[in-house]
Amino acid sequence: MIGFNEKDGVLHADNVPLTQLAEEFGTPLYVYSAGVIRAQYKALSDAMANALPKDRQPLLCYACKANSNLAVLSVLQKSGSGLEIVSEGELRRGLKAGFNPETIVSTGVGKQASEIKACLEAGIHQFNVESLPELFHIQRIAEGLDINARVVFRLNPDVTGGGHHKISTGRSRDKFGIGHDRVFEGFEIAKDMSHVEAVGLSMHIGSQVFTVETFKEAFEKLPALVKELRGAGHTIERLDIGGGFPIVYDDEKLLDLSAYAQWVNDIVVPLDTEIIMEPGRYMVGNAGVLLSEVLYIKETHERNFLIIDAAMNDLIRPTLYDAYHGIEAVENRDLEKVSYDVVGPVCETGDTFSTGRSLPLMNEGDLAVIKSTGAYGFCMASNYNTRPMPAEVLVDGDQYSLIKPRQSYEDLIDNDIVPDFL
Ligand SMILES: Cc1ncc(COP(=O)(O)O)c(C=O)c1O
Repeated sequence: MIGFNEKDGVLHADNVPLTQLAEEFGTPLYVYSAGVIRAQYKALSDAMANALPKDRQPLLCYACKANSNLAVLSVLQKSGSGLEIVSEGELRRGLKAGFNPETIVSTGVGKQASEIKACLEAGIHQFNVESLPELFHIQRIAEGLDINARVVFRLNPDVTGGGHHKISTGRSRDKFGIGHDRVFEGFEIAKDMSHVEAVGLSMHIGSQVFTVETFKEAFEKLPALVKELRGAGHTIERLDIGGGFPIVYDDEKLLDLSAYAQWVNDIVVPLDTEIIMEPGRYMVGNAGVLLSEVLYIKETHERNFLIIDAAMNDLIRPTLYDAYHGIEAVENRDLEKVSYDVVGPVCETGDTFSTGRSLPLMNEGDLAVIKSTGAYGFCMASNYNTRPMPAEVLVDGDQYSLIKPRQSYEDLIDNDIVPDFL
């Protein structure tokens, strides 16, 4: 069995009881299922395989900002994935995990000189350029290294795409991408550059995009734009259509992948380009849980607090995005239901995972999981309140392994420097 299911009254990760993992590695602990990651990759690539001609299959570049642990990257690399990166750190992780540089695309509005240099030296597939100053920057660095840079321009389509305003990236007021007219200017400028080759366009409108209609709205001008650019003598041989594929956190109605794939076949395939996609959350979100222990039950006149040992520094999504995450007891799952505010130990009222959540009666020392935390969970964790970063474990059927140890207090504190002049 893959994923997080109850067996003999205990919640398991694949075939491993979460109680066993908590005992061996402590809590808070991120637990991932390799099988779920593989299944998600397969579901997306199968949907595309079913709808698109064999010779027009997209390059799936996993957006590793969602979860960049080397073991997770390795599962995806072995599944056949490419990689979308936003920093030199992610490039280094990708290369270490064995990704072919020719399958790596670099995005982001603030690419630093050192990052551009590292990407050029590694020989990545392309830069997704987000501004004209960045284009000049890439040319300068590429010329210095005498390496040709292939770039696509990220188009800002001016639509509202994401499930929350902080993860919507396609509005004209957002910092991402380049407006329609500036894209033309970009191609014109690139034509005269010695070490930049402009080869196409990219678009990513946001995260948790639930309807094909939203993608349609953003991409509907693409065929005309491609025609116009080609008419002006520019090369459009690559289209990167971004990520944003949603997962279930609560009871959301998911994007119909086969309808999406059919739409790509109808709209993007006829443009006769290489197709690139950048799924992040979809690959890993439902493949992880945050396992935590109940520290205290605190009853006040107004509320019933379940204080657990995971906090907003381990998982910031609820307080940052008001994000909903399912919470389940690991054992004694049939006990009478009680309403709890599930909170962490951090000194912020925002350190709240849910209010008024109905859970089986819990006691100190019981275990609970916060579900669907495989994406934008650990990778957004911090040391706030001088709390060590949690550990991470990967389960694969009957097997499991620590994939990142809990941060030690030495690692956490000993790099601080008290200057001699104090
Ligand atoms: C450029 C780009 N591509 C892909 C992604 C991945 O998005 P998602 O995890 O929603 O698939 C992001 C997310 O921020 C992004 O900024």
